[in-house]
Amino acid sequence: MSASGYVQHYSAKVSDIYFIRPIKMFKSRFKFAQTKVAVGALLLLSCLPFAATAASLEAQLSQYAATAKAANPGFAGFSAARGEALHTRNFASGKPDTPACTSCHGKDPRSAGQTLTGKRIEAVALSVSPSRYADPAKVEKWFKRNCNEVIGRECTAQEKGDWLTFVGSR
Ligand code: HEC
Repeated sequence: MSASGYVQHYSAKVSDIYFIRPIKMFKSRFKFAQTKVAVGALLLLSCLPFAATAASLEAQLSQYAATAKAANPGFAGFSAARGEALHTRNFASGKPDTPACTSCHGKDPRSAGQTLTGKRIEAVALSVSPSRYADPAKVEKWFKRNCNEVIGRECTAQEKGDWLTFVGSR
């Protein structure tokens, strides 16, 4: 017979109060311990998305670094400052209505942006949108589309790494 079966069986007999009390106390202490474990597990789980994304971003950055180094042996790492300059620069080579990344993402990466049709775009700063950059295919897809629109060509691995370093640091 299991402990809970035992308790349930005797709980039915309300008269048996002296016997039931200690069991009930044991049960509630056990429940408290269970709650503590559950809360601990939840806390741990709630940290996971951020850890997973940060790790994913790191992995993508090292991929871009390898590509950048292959293209330019003098490559000396990514720069958040260069990424910010790319983010805010006005290009004349792309589509006239989207001259910069800021056209949609706004100047401040911690603020939400919007598409030309007014659809909200969540902030690109990793600190504000920790679920971003978890999917390398999504990141690549949007780099391709947005760089073509803004610059009129695909971004280089150096530019992608700089931009991701910029938003990863904000
Ligand atoms: C025409 C509007 C527009 C412009 C201009 C634009 N973006 Fe975006 N960008 C979007 C939209 C829409 C998404 C997808 C929705 C989302 O991720 O919230 C996106 C997503 C991205 C993503 C993927 C984010 C993720 O969570 O994986 C990257 C990377 C990105 N943009 C980089 C850039 C860069 C770099 C520039 C400038 C060269 C730029 N964007 C310019 C609209 C734009």
